[in-house]
Amino acid sequence: MNASTLRVRVARKTVEATDICSFELIDPSGKSLPPFSAGSHVDVTLPGGITRQYSLCNDPGESHRYLIGVLKDPATRGGSKAMHEEVNEGDALEISVPKNHFALAHQATRSLLLAGGVGITPILCMAERLAIANSDFEMHYASRSRDRMAFHDRILTSAFASKVHFHFDDGPTEQKLSLEELLANPRQEVHLYVCGPKGFMDAVLGTARAKGWPESQLHYEFFAAAPVKSVDDESFQVKLASSGRVVVIAKNKSVTNALRDAGVEIPTSCEQGVCGTCLTRVLEGEPDHKDLYLSPDEQAANDQFTPCCSRSRSAMLVLDL
Ligand code: FES
Repeated sequence: MNASTLRVRVARKTVEATDICSFELIDPSGKSLPPFSAGSHVDVTLPGGITRQYSLCNDPGESHRYLIGVLKDPATRGGSKAMHEEVNEGDALEISVPKNHFALAHQATRSLLLAGGVGITPILCMAERLAIANSDFEMHYASRSRDRMAFHDRILTSAFASKVHFHFDDGPTEQKLSLEELLANPRQEVHLYVCGPKGFMDAVLGTARAKGWPESQLHYEFFAAAPVKSVDDESFQVKLASSGRVVVIAKNKSVTNALRDAGVEIPTSCEQGVCGTCLTRVLEGEPDHKDLYLSPDEQAANDQFTPCCSRSRSAMLVLDL
């Protein structure tokens, strides 16, 4: 435990939809929890020691609890399965203080919120916040089917229900989400927020970019995804700017693991290129970005990279370490 770690108790575990559970986390002695803003997540240390990020989906005005929603996804590496099968009401969990890499842009005069599946979690928190602030917004929530849609009833009975449009993959054509129409006319003061499975995010962001939405008005957060491994991955060298020391990164090793073996610790969390915890400045060389965290513009700048999963196009990278 350190200053950025909290011990919490699972006060309630609720089945919200097929394969989705929510977990209400409280301070074991009933104290207030550190405040959070819409779009925040916590790192949860799971049974077995692995860490996963889960977005907070309650009203950010609440201080007595954090609410997270977890999809049991067979495609993930076991984190969600452990949450569903091994974590129960009354259990203690270690979590980080809330972090926000997906914050609302305060200059927006209108917000377009798009959620796919369990991507509703940060989007719901944003809707709560925007509704309380009386801000102009519209929300679209797409799901494979009604039984897989978490928080449907909570949204229907919320103060902002009239701003929400539900879309079901297995429903009639007229209720399907038309990104072409929705994103047809980007306006300077409208900001778009999207969270969901990779296919959904790619469709939303791809359409928005094709319609001319500026990158500065697109906000998104990917879930943990299997790291992209390529048979073409080559070994390369990393130089630590402070000492001039050179470390060889073997083909099958991540930069963070190779540096850890060499006694240089870079903090990590997701180890999948989605959370940004390991973000490191690049002083020379060209990274081969494999993350989902940096925007295309940030990746193109080549002055930072995520060493948990990204590699190098040049023979050497000089890092600000
Ligand atoms: S540890 Fe999450 S992006 Fe590298």
